[in-house]
Amino acid sequence: MKRLAVVGTGYVGLVSGTCFAEIGNQVTCCDIDQSKIDLLNKGEIPIYEPGLKELVAKNSEAGRLSFTTDIGTAIQDAEVVYIAVGTPMSETGEADLKYVRAVAQTIGENLNGYKVIVNKSTVPVGTGKMVEEIVRSASNGAYEFDIVSNPEFLREGSAIKDTMQMERAVIGATSEKAAGIIEELHSPFQTAIVKTNLESAEMLKYAANAFLATKISFINDIANICELVGADVTKVAEGMGLDSRIGPKFLNAGVGFGGSCFPKDTTALLHIAESAGYDFELIKAVIKTNIRQRETVVHKLKNIFGDLNGLNVSVLGLAFKPNTDDMRYAPSVDIIHAITEEGASVKAYDPVAIEEAKKQITAPISYYTDVYETIQNTDVCIILTEWPEVLSLDLNKAKELMNKAILIDGRNIFSLTDVKEKGFIYHSVGRPQIQ
Ligand code: UDX
Repeated sequence: MKRLAVVGTGYVGLVSGTCFAEIGNQVTCCDIDQSKIDLLNKGEIPIYEPGLKELVAKNSEAGRLSFTTDIGTAIQDAEVVYIAVGTPMSETGEADLKYVRAVAQTIGENLNGYKVIVNKSTVPVGTGKMVEEIVRSASNGAYEFDIVSNPEFLREGSAIKDTMQMERAVIGATSEKAAGIIEELHSPFQTAIVKTNLESAEMLKYAANAFLATKISFINDIANICELVGADVTKVAEGMGLDSRIGPKFLNAGVGFGGSCFPKDTTALLHIAESAGYDFELIKAVIKTNIRQRETVVHKLKNIFGDLNGLNVSVLGLAFKPNTDDMRYAPSVDIIHAITEEGASVKAYDPVAIEEAKKQITAPISYYTDVYETIQNTDVCIILTEWPEVLSLDLNKAKELMNKAILIDGRNIFSLTDVKEKGFIYHSVGRPQIQ
């Protein structure tokens, strides 16, 4: 059992802190945002993540998990301090480290003995060393401490499972002693451990995310070519995926990746490469393909209707993927802005992301939490997120409710035979069109 302070109660901090408590540690999650801490102390969760509320309640009741804005005291009481604050994309595309720097300063000011200071946030190579310098100078070198990079690989929507059953833990440490402490902390997870230095651990996280993003942009490019040559990308991906060197995952063609990680981390990696004097052409193409992929939806709409002015469009799914209310870099935002600018009116469905969507979508659209009310009296329906309610859409009912039986499916959720049988015009991604 260890005493942990986790600074930052976003996705990463809250999920990791709760899971560290679940495996028996004494965890204090801290944040400067009083309203977030108040919510958490009332048993409310500021984010939507299946299973998190129950796990927070269980560990709070067991006395292993608490929440506070008193970051200083939490640090003083802890053996291990996790930095899990946001590293948003700055205007120039680099990771903005102002929150990391502020936490490092607070840690230094409250250092009262040897501690292991762990970076959980995704940070550019060199940040561990920067944190080390800030802590040393803020603590006047009074105590020993070590820095560890222990990047997070959880996915939103399955964050608890991804943590409790993690596939690996990466531990980049400045000393054997610190690496040992963090390895021991992870022993209940019974996971593979990769021990390395700070820089390799920091790089590893960006490389993993950039590789997954590359897989998606690659299959999206192949899908676009499939459309031109009459091939079916789902079959191409199925056959590719059976090669164990390629693997079947992350080969679903669609409207491109969104969310808080891939867009931010690919851009940040490009900047890391640029500052190191390396021209990373491949990642530039990955980012470009991803932006272009959103535009393909608008092109398909124009190919069918010509002029979008006065068109009644329904959009099923706003969140960047199912099981989250996260709207950061969601393809729906760009797509809805593009079609409303051309005069279309939009009715949009999402089961949980509407409040978040309203903060990002500036166009005057109407929001629904029922799929059938959304598609009613619309000329075309665009599918952007594969929510269970969208996957189970009753096509017969949809045909009755819509003005025209036209679907643009950005997630390839229907079988071509089904939509053909039901009499839909159906444009999906990288598969033959049904006219
Ligand atoms: C990702 C990484 O998976 C995780 O390891 C990292 O820590 C954070 O970033 P997340 O952003 O939660 O997690 O979502 P993920 O499930 O990986 O999906 C990312 C995006 O890729 C989504 O927009 C999704 O729709 C898209 N995607 C994924 C595809 O378009 N096709 C695929 O085959 C897989």
